[in-house]
Amino acid sequence: QERTALARSIARADSVVAMTGAGVSTASGIPDFRSEDGIWTKYDPDDFHISRFRADPEGFWRERVEMVREVFGGDVVPNAAHEALADLEAAGHLDTLVTQNVDGLHQAAGNEDPIEIHGNGRRVVCTECDHRFDVGPVMERVEDGEAPPTCTRCGGLLKPDVVLFGERLPRDDLVRARTVSRNADVFLAVGSSLTVEPAASLPRHAVESGGTLCIVNLDPTDLSDIATYDFRADVAELLPGLVEDLSR
Ligand code: OAD
Ligand code: ZN
Repeated sequence: QERTALARSIARADSVVAMTGAGVSTASGIPDFRSEDGIWTKYDPDDFHISRFRADPEGFWRERVEMVREVFGGDVVPNAAHEALADLEAAGHLDTLVTQNVDGLHQAAGNEDPIEIHGNGRRVVCTECDHRFDVGPVMERVEDGEAPPTCTRCGGLLKPDVVLFGERLPRDDLVRARTVSRNADVFLAVGSSLTVEPAASLPRHAVESGGTLCIVNLDPTDLSDIATYDFRADVAELLPGLVEDLSR
């Protein structure tokens, strides 16, 4: 069976890299972006553009607070997909985890040092002095009417510490992600439509360097053609199964 074959490839590999997308967090109650109930059905991607933030930081922050309250409303905790990726890492089967998600759930599940190429929404960053703060208290200040919120150290404008459209990815993280992708014997692309660059190029780099690409996603992805394994499956089911295969 396919999954057993993948488990053998992983067991043999010197280097395994996984890259996750919003699909690993849907079972935690966070919608993805491009599915039927995705975030882009309710919110306009243009409102997540850096030019919108610069032009109207007050409006940006007010909408942000509303979106975060709706999307992260309840207590959001890791699901079986996050747990499985943490198990793989703990068992020595996963060398590097790259994530496009900004929800911080991989750390919550126990992955040591995921490369967060789109940043982390649990933090805000000062656009003047680069100091980072927890998002929680800042959200409260915005709800109390302080919009846009400013830095308590220098008075600069605060921005969520995530990559907005039109912004560059954090350079060091991207370089590191590219390097590990080129060196990967097995690259697992899970829960991502693989449509947003430059993240979508990472699995391509792995294949170009001779690595085996495995995709796990409910919908077909842009890179399904070049994948050795292409599972049309729920990550919260397939990944725990893979962990089980590897522990036999
Ligand atoms: P998308 O919404 O584009 O893709 C998520 C994919 O996950 C979809 O193809 C779903 O079919 C699949 N999916 C959902 N739940 C699943 C499950 N339980 N099991 C398996 N697959 C499932 O989200 P991303 O690819 O992460 O960028 O989007 C990439 C980037 O686009 C995001 O990081 C964000 C957005 O613009 C920034 O914020 C910079
Ligand atoms: Zn500052």
